[in-house]
Amino acid sequence: MKKLLIIIAAFIIMSCDKNKYLSIKSPDEKINLKFELINGIPYYSVNKSNLEVINNSRMGISFKEFDLIENFKIIGSNKENVNKNWTPLYGEENIIRNNYNELNIFLENNKSKINITFRVFDDGIAFKYQVPTQKHISSYYIVDEKTEFNLSSKDSALWIPAFSYRRYEFLYAYSSVDDISKEFYSKKVENLTYDSLGINAAHTPLTIKKDNNLFISIHEANLIDYSSMTIAPKGEGKLEVELYPWSDGIKVKSNKGINSPWRTIQISNSSSGLLNSNLILNLNDDPEEDKDFSWVKPGKYMGVWWEMIGTNESTWWPSKNHGANNDKIIKYMDFASDHGFDGLLVEGWNKGWYPEWCCSGNGIPFSFTESVDDFDIEMLSEYGAKKDIFIVGHHETGGQIQNYENQLEDAFKLYNLNGIKNIKTGYVNDVSKNIKRIDENGNINREWHHGQYMVNHFQKVIELAAKYKLNIITHEPIKDTGLRRKYPNYISREGAKGQEFNGFWTNGVNHATDLPFTRMLSGPMDYTPGIFQLNNFRYDSPETKNIDKGAIVPSTIGKELALYVVYYSPMQMAADLPKHYSKHLEAFEFIKNVPVDWSERIILDSEFREYVTIARKDKNSGNWYVGGITNENERNLKINFSFLDMKKDYKLVMYTDTEDTHWKYNPMKYQIRQQKIKSEDTININLAPGGGFAFEIIEL
Ligand code: NOJ
Ligand code: CA
Repeated sequence: MKKLLIIIAAFIIMSCDKNKYLSIKSPDEKINLKFELINGIPYYSVNKSNLEVINNSRMGISFKEFDLIENFKIIGSNKENVNKNWTPLYGEENIIRNNYNELNIFLENNKSKINITFRVFDDGIAFKYQVPTQKHISSYYIVDEKTEFNLSSKDSALWIPAFSYRRYEFLYAYSSVDDISKEFYSKKVENLTYDSLGINAAHTPLTIKKDNNLFISIHEANLIDYSSMTIAPKGEGKLEVELYPWSDGIKVKSNKGINSPWRTIQISNSSSGLLNSNLILNLNDDPEEDKDFSWVKPGKYMGVWWEMIGTNESTWWPSKNHGANNDKIIKYMDFASDHGFDGLLVEGWNKGWYPEWCCSGNGIPFSFTESVDDFDIEMLSEYGAKKDIFIVGHHETGGQIQNYENQLEDAFKLYNLNGIKNIKTGYVNDVSKNIKRIDENGNINREWHHGQYMVNHFQKVIELAAKYKLNIITHEPIKDTGLRRKYPNYISREGAKGQEFNGFWTNGVNHATDLPFTRMLSGPMDYTPGIFQLNNFRYDSPETKNIDKGAIVPSTIGKELALYVVYYSPMQMAADLPKHYSKHLEAFEFIKNVPVDWSERIILDSEFREYVTIARKDKNSGNWYVGGITNENERNLKINFSFLDMKKDYKLVMYTDTEDTHWKYNPMKYQIRQQKIKSEDTININLAPGGGFAFEIIEL
């Protein structure tokens, strides 16, 4: 649709004493943003329908050689309104509305110029800094970003610790915003006291339930060539941006001005409203005009994977139990092809794996072009091609970035030659600030996982992958800030505690219901749902193969199915083993049928940290799918079908827990029922403790 752009060139700058303020509202006029200079210092504040969202908060950036934090005067400003629709290549909705009011403010102090752009949408606000290239400045080295978010001590955050060893792979803590600290986390969730590097801060998206009952999510959009933002508590409800530094302490390095990512605050009266926001994608760009991404196709895949990380019956490294061997892969390919999947992930195919490979950031570097002896890439790719199954490639870097970058192009070429379309990448390195970077003088520096160095690495990978028509699914990634709009081949990523932890450790029963309100707000997740064998699945070791009675996936089969609808991902994995699916082929039918590309998303109902139900419409038919999950609490939910077309009849297939299903005591019990349904109907569904349900609603 053609862009509707109204530029309101002249408007009045209000004056009160020597302070000046400017303000704009959201298109629906409910959100109000005010910017002002108080004694030359920039501040912003936000409210929604007269409820306070952000109290007066400072803005600005300190550079190594100059400051852009005070002594400002406004040298100009303008406003515009944008209201246009755009169509993502794939996604949760067919058409996305991008409607906002924008305020551009041009500031200057005695050192430099800085422009601040605010956008106010109906579902939140965003702002960014732009420091233009200026003749008298040769380096733009950021030492501190001063952006604040002034809340109240009574506001509560659902958060994971930043500057901590396991990147984003943590359970969520719930506390006052003032209590975000490693100390609090260590008391309540997991001991981090030994991990003393870095400051106390939380990752974004940071979800906050305000004392006035508003829900907000603080995050960033369009993170390119900058350090990723964390949020640090400063007491009395005040939060401040903290950027991951380079090893020399500089946060962001540039020689040509600064164009910061958007700082975003999604705002809603309800938890469901937060889940319904497209603000992050709206703040990203479309692909460049000469770039064709029509080759990017969403899909579903299985994998030679859970048998290493979950059941522990095979190894990634060469051994008599090596998982990625030709015979095994052919069997998986046959099964995946018979059941209509698109891909098969194969991990442990390349040289460099050994039992202690994991986590130190040192050790034997991986090869990305040489296969181990019992893996024949050409033969398997040809076999797969005949059966319409492509291998999903795997690049575990172990966090050895330079080793990976040196091989990147050759690695992509190899996959290209063999018809591989998707690569799962991995960056396991379980030590804080431990990404090895050898500089031009041969010195070894240790970088954080989420600083500018790594942001730029992920960017390099995605751009080169696009050249080779490859999609990337990153594990241990940089968080999603909506770049999949401009680079649709950045198709999915992990970036939270996923299912894998239920394999080798546990996520507990309440983590799965925290994710929709936190991690999922940033974008698609490769959670890897669909485990059917929920207990007695894990061996103590691949050699002895004694069942570990204590290992459980704290879920139910009904919930595992629901996750395909609740957790959006354009590449979805059916993570369990063929032998486990074969025991429950009727339930497996749902995984086979559920789409991965949607035209509509409706958050039917949710309660923060308790439960959520989501309905999605298939992009390629009139069929709908509904998923609902609950935390440890059993509940009865009434599903209203008013989202269906009033003029049509539908067949409803319900995959639900039974009366005696329980995540701990009886997790694999489910029932499947069918009936006709119309839009005026309602149905009550019982969710077991830790359980869930999935509906397939087929247009008749
Ligand atoms: C961690 C990833 O999340 C997991 O999926 C992968 O199997 C291992 N690293 C090995 O690469
Ligand atoms: Ca991981």
